Amino acid sequence: MSIDSLSLSSFRNHNSNHFEFSKGITVIWGENGSGKTSVLEAIHLLTYGKSFKTHKQAQLIKEDKKTSLLKAVFSKKKVKNIISAQVEKTSSKIKVNGKLILNRKELIGQNNVVVLSPEEQPITKGAPLQRRQFIDKMFSVSNKKYINSLQEYNRALKQRNAALQNIRDDKTKKNQLSPWDNLLSEKAEKLWGERFEHLLMFNNLFLSTVDQYDRTLDIKTSSTTELKNKEEILENLKKRENKDIARGRTSYGPHKDDITFFWNGKTLREYGSQGEHKLTLFLLKVTEMLFLKKNTGVYPTLLLDDLFAKLDLERSKKIVAMLSLFRDEESKRTQTIITTTDILNVENSGLLKKYSNSKTIRLQR
Ligand SMILES: Nc1ncnc2c1ncn2[C@@H]1O[C@H](COP(=O)(O)OP(=O)(O)OP(=O)(O)O)[C@@H](O)[C@H]1O
Ligand SMILES: [Mg+2]
Repeated sequence: MSIDSLSLSSFRNHNSNHFEFSKGITVIWGENGSGKTSVLEAIHLLTYGKSFKTHKQAQLIKEDKKTSLLKAVFSKKKVKNIISAQVEKTSSKIKVNGKLILNRKELIGQNNVVVLSPEEQPITKGAPLQRRQFIDKMFSVSNKKYINSLQEYNRALKQRNAALQNIRDDKTKKNQLSPWDNLLSEKAEKLWGERFEHLLMFNNLFLSTVDQYDRTLDIKTSSTTELKNKEEILENLKKRENKDIARGRTSYGPHKDDITFFWNGKTLREYGSQGEHKLTLFLLKVTEMLFLKKNTGVYPTLLLDDLFAKLDLERSKKIVAMLSLFRDEESKRTQTIITTTDILNVENSGLLKKYSNSKTIRLQR
């Protein structure tokens, strides 16, 4: 798939702008604050219905304006789709070919993008929630069944937590908990099962991606996701029941999962350098791209925000060599949009030479 064009008005610092993208590589360059990341953010919003930077819509709308308007043309196998968004402070309307969509789920699967941005670095550096969100989003985009299991689990979790709070506050009796335990353990078994299966596939792809980048590089992952049946889950919920009532929160289940990354045997989160974090994130994102390709049949568009900053030339060149391996069915390279403050950085990496169809866009602050 590819994104052909994008129009923005009153979005972040953009007044009114129109961009046409190459099917190969597009380099967007300009000073800090010129609006490069915002362009990628707009593409992400039209793809998945939300920003990758914020949940607060009001922040997206240009200061002193009421509404942001975004519109993009996507092509997939020669079919063109127009997706538009009207973002207001508390609501937003998204249309596909003029037809209003009522649920964000309807957008999922239409087009896919993978973003590699400094804004996403919390995936390796931040709290477990960031890593869960990373895998949950990837698995949801590649499989609608997964998003349903996730939503059903989250609903059951909310209900059990409400019951725990009511018991704690003496509003209900303790024996009222068991239907919620039942429901939650059923949904947990399902979600864990699917997550386990997807993680296995992801992990295999990740290990071969690392290997392909550099055979001597030793990055591994481990996760707390387990295959547990309903009875075992129920037993574990029971064991923690008193603690959970006191806290008014469920302390066990898929919502507590985490993934740990190891670089040369040491935990990346505690020991990793900036470049090591960045490279790991790059390899995770390449894996995400391969995962989506494997599950949906099409390569997503890669959005690389400030990719070469903080990476030495040798690593940058290796990354470029790796990117140039991915080809679609017509053996064309996959669509990539890259931003930079330093056009020389991109030129030195050799990236532009690898693509026959490239385009450069200059943004002014
Ligand atoms: N709602 C808004 N209204 C007006 N300006 C905004 C809004 N939100 C963000 N900005 C500004 O828009 C500018 C563009 O931000 P963006 O992150 O896109 O820049 P960038 O080109 O990626 O910069 P860098 O090279 O530093 O990453 C910033 O100066 C930011 O302060
Ligand atoms: Mg930026």
